Amino acid sequence: MDMERVQAIAFSFMTEGRIPPEFIRSEKEQPAITTLHGYDPQIPTTDFSDPDEDSLTRLIAEASRDWGMFQIVNHGIPTHVINNLQKVGEDFFALPQVEKELYAKPPDSKSIEGYGTRLQKEEEGKRAWVDHLFHKIWPPSAINYQFWPKNPPSYRDANEAYAKCLRGVADKLLSRLSVGLGLGEKELRESVGRDELTYLLKINYYPPCPRPDLALGVVSHTDMSAITILVPNHVQGLQLFRDDHCFDVKYIPNALVIHIGDQLEILSNGKYKSVLHRTTVKKDMTRMSWPVFLEPPPELAIGPLPKPTSEDNPPKYKKKRYCDYVYCELNKIPQ
Ligand code: OGA
Ligand code: NI
Repeated sequence: MDMERVQAIAFSFMTEGRIPPEFIRSEKEQPAITTLHGYDPQIPTTDFSDPDEDSLTRLIAEASRDWGMFQIVNHGIPTHVINNLQKVGEDFFALPQVEKELYAKPPDSKSIEGYGTRLQKEEEGKRAWVDHLFHKIWPPSAINYQFWPKNPPSYRDANEAYAKCLRGVADKLLSRLSVGLGLGEKELRESVGRDELTYLLKINYYPPCPRPDLALGVVSHTDMSAITILVPNHVQGLQLFRDDHCFDVKYIPNALVIHIGDQLEILSNGKYKSVLHRTTVKKDMTRMSWPVFLEPPPELAIGPLPKPTSEDNPPKYKKKRYCDYVYCELNKIPQ
């Protein structure tokens, strides 16, 4: 193991009332100083069961343009499917450390998959108060079952059931977003890889933190994906940046949180916005979340689509392969 897990650190500092210095953010980042309270604009909520497709398209396109993030209620995924996904994830993180380490990302691996603690090198050597497990859940040809926990035994069934339901939501979302750009229903889905679009699940595990005023969960970032579809647990922690302010995104039971990712901003030539967000942690509660990043296949080149670009709106982004985009992002090379 290359680094001590945050879950273990949280356990050993539980009664100390302090955290190790590498988790203490500078004043520019500390959530207690940088979170806006009182004025609570909220991201839009859309009802997926609305039979009026035009109105749904309009709402989703506007939310993606003005906010880059929205919540979906009545999405059609049965509550028990989501509850099971959460339960098996909670059970995995409750296993003894040695058992979780069986799924650790191999040190020489080029893929992101596996159990781990930090993805990016952070400036000033700071650490984030979160552990994670990454593995792909769709398409079957992309799945590496070695990163799917065998314990609890129902882990696989629960994740397969969720992946199956999620595909319906993703397809509907992509078709509405496509029409919202003035394209045919299927065009956007084609442009992100069609049947090769990869569903990468991440489980974020944010243990209780003695100083939630000083630490951050995931630091501010935009998602590199095309779209991200996220299920949180009941503990609020997601924050959104807008107009230079950072504020809490309200937890809505049973809703899915949708993030427009960088690839959709690029394809839409900036019409849809990939939004900056981060997460905070809690003193007495464990927060967890289950984002699924919908990612184009690595070799697929992504650039602004012809339709959203025009003489008045020339291409604002370079066309590049998704794997090259990810490489630049992770190594802090300008895109
Ligand atoms: C992420 C992320 C948000 C959350 O993992 O990319 O933004 O609510 N997570 O945990
Ligand atoms: Ni994110």
